[in-house]
Amino acid sequence: MQDLADRDYFTDHSILLDPYAYFEALREKGPVYRLPGRDIFVVTGFAEALEVLNNTVDFSSAVSTGGAAMPLPFTPEGDDLTGQIEAHRAQFLGGDLLVARDDKPHTNSRALLSRLFTPSRLKANEEYMTGLAGKLAADAVANGGCDLIKDINVPFATLVVADLLGVPPDDRDHFMKVIAEGVPPGSLDEQERTGQNQPLVVMAGFFVNYLMERMQAPRGDVLSELAAASYPDGTKPDIAELVRLSTFLFGAGQDTTAKLLGNAMRFIVEQPGLQDRLRADSSLLPDFIEEVLRLEGSTKMTSRLARKTTKVGGVEIPIGTKVMISFAAANRDPRRFENPQEFIIGRPKIKEHVAFGRGAHVCIGAPLARVETRIVLEKFLQKTSYIDLDETVHGPRGARRLAYEPSFIIRGLEELRLKLTPRH
Ligand code: HEM
Repeated sequence: MQDLADRDYFTDHSILLDPYAYFEALREKGPVYRLPGRDIFVVTGFAEALEVLNNTVDFSSAVSTGGAAMPLPFTPEGDDLTGQIEAHRAQFLGGDLLVARDDKPHTNSRALLSRLFTPSRLKANEEYMTGLAGKLAADAVANGGCDLIKDINVPFATLVVADLLGVPPDDRDHFMKVIAEGVPPGSLDEQERTGQNQPLVVMAGFFVNYLMERMQAPRGDVLSELAAASYPDGTKPDIAELVRLSTFLFGAGQDTTAKLLGNAMRFIVEQPGLQDRLRADSSLLPDFIEEVLRLEGSTKMTSRLARKTTKVGGVEIPIGTKVMISFAAANRDPRRFENPQEFIIGRPKIKEHVAFGRGAHVCIGAPLARVETRIVLEKFLQKTSYIDLDETVHGPRGARRLAYEPSFIIRGLEELRLKLTPRH
């Protein structure tokens, strides 16, 4: 039989069910390991992951959306690839997205977004979330059950970002439909991968109109603020840049949050006694969510490109090679987390996990994702006396049938059918 470590992470569907076993097989080869015959290193160590993520001098993020397996659109020359990367940026899949940018273009764009994530904006958004989650959970309980992913999480995550950005309420249903039909990032299917930006293209049409209208006549809303925004040096971004940033928020905050909620709910229904414990003491929820992020975070990995020859964990990374940083493996590194495979609520310094990345590109939506997850779980726990998996779909305890999203980036269930017993 083929050694687990020799399977092709980027195309092999059998790894989806248990990517952790694959990463453990790689960890045994060392925390920084070059895949045989490939120009890809895999980082499974926690300290080594931080080394890469914190080093924006030697590493470029241009490959973060396309993934480490994508061939470079040029032949590396010289001892610094920065110029070549910028000259070919349009040829990297998603190379123009915030998460793939480097240096000043990255810090400039990120600064524009940070105005959306102010404490007052987040507070208003939280009020919206509470109302929406309450309604979605009440409807699901009234129906006796739901598919948590499609019926609850996907519309919830979309509507929350739409609210944050100030998308007019009349257009929100359309956004939900477009996003629900999209493909998650990092699809294992080549054909789907090329079409995966489709929802972003449709939404871009809406955002061009919103922003143009507000450039001509500001309305004192979030979109007007974005339309009037300047870079830190005082220059103005063009409209294409503002549209790219707004639509990217849907891409970045959609599947990630929807899947995290699914992963969290699976712990709630599978861990004996856990739902009663959380119902009795909802103050445990934040620590519970952090432990889910550590063990079953919804982003398995990201990628970087060595633009100079450098070292990570003492291993030489030659210029032009790619590094796949496994958040899933780093978060289970026994050198950082005691008994890493165990599910323990209340681990010391748990928030130091890397489920949201680290360094210059650390997830800007992390505070939002944490609140979203807490509020939905809180509402489901409050409105039920018992939550169970629908065994007709998922099979009995001990022989569950669960399908995971076919993506090398996203970790999450395609569907999670729940049976809900109301609380009286
Ligand atoms: C559980 C939910 C989420 C997870 C696990 C997650 C994970 C991540 C990770 C790992 C990165 C870093 C990628 C890299 O370094 O290559 C990232 C970046 C990012 N995330 Fe999230 N994310 C989540 C939710 C959200 C939400 C709700 C939003 C916004 C509405 C968001 C917006 C972003 C943005 C804009 C970036 C790029 C930041 C940059 O490049 O400077 N994320 N996310």
